[in-house]
Amino acid sequence: MQEPLRAPVNDHGVAHGFTSVDAQPRPADWVQILDRLSAEPFYVAYKQRLQEFLRAEAGGLFLEVGAGTGDAAVSLRSRYGAEVVAVDSSLTMIAQARSRGVVHAAVADGHRLPFRAGQFEGAWADRVLQHVTEPLRVLDELLRVVRPGGRVALADPDYDTQVLDIDDQELARRVLRFRVDVALRNGSLAHRHAGLLAARGLHDITVEARTLAVRDPSAAENVMGLRTWAHTAAARGYLDPMDADQFVNQFDDAVHEGRFMYAVTFFLTGGTLPVPS
Ligand SMILES: C[S@@+](CC[C@H](N)C(=O)[O-])C[C@H]1O[C@@H](n2cnc3c(N)ncnc32)[C@H](O)[C@@H]1O
Repeated sequence: MQEPLRAPVNDHGVAHGFTSVDAQPRPADWVQILDRLSAEPFYVAYKQRLQEFLRAEAGGLFLEVGAGTGDAAVSLRSRYGAEVVAVDSSLTMIAQARSRGVVHAAVADGHRLPFRAGQFEGAWADRVLQHVTEPLRVLDELLRVVRPGGRVALADPDYDTQVLDIDDQELARRVLRFRVDVALRNGSLAHRHAGLLAARGLHDITVEARTLAVRDPSAAENVMGLRTWAHTAAARGYLDPMDADQFVNQFDDAVHEGRFMYAVTFFLTGGTLPVPS
């Protein structure tokens, strides 16, 4: 029996829905969020590239941790003929993955993977380490279950790279800092993934940076919730409520003047496990 996950809040008492999808008021909404994002050309392109980092071959067995709807698992199988096991801590997500054709899909916590050491040719986690309680433990689990000489691939946005065009750039920075330091558990880890792999003896490490530039304010507002971040910060005591109002006014001005722009950089990192001599 799986141990329960820790409470779906970070050390600051703020929860992100992806830390515990099943505990959200409407878990199905989080499936829709993933679907909306993964239909965007930016996401389609980086996800394809991330799969290339795995160097998958037909018949090889691969693991995706935090697989969400299972679309990437289906895609790896159809592109390369690889076998994929998909795990996610959310039953809602795993039910989706099964309904979309992932045969080997199971509820499991990335901190305690229910697999033997060295069982997989490769493993990946896409936009997962940012949400977990102990990212290094999840990384070590991921590495444990991959065979010597096998491949791992990681992707996450690094929220330390965020920029937003509103008039008051100092206010923008404060709200964006709330996003990275408080609203996410590990919002600025992605630029360190390569170093973490190197420290664990991996070689052939590749890093690619891809910047998501959002010019459509409805995408940012509805999918990323950007317009609401300042009031979330104020409600938690991280921002003066008047500053939060000011942020929203300036956000709306930028939209009406056609100059809305928000950007964040994603890091894609791959590496090869050492072969003991
Ligand atoms: C942002 S979604 C990404 C889903 C998918 N990888 C994708 O790129 O579409 C993060 C996923 O990680 C899962 N997750 C969060 N914490 C987890 C944990 N400790 N173990 C396994 N999965 C976890 C969530 O349930 C969610 O499905």
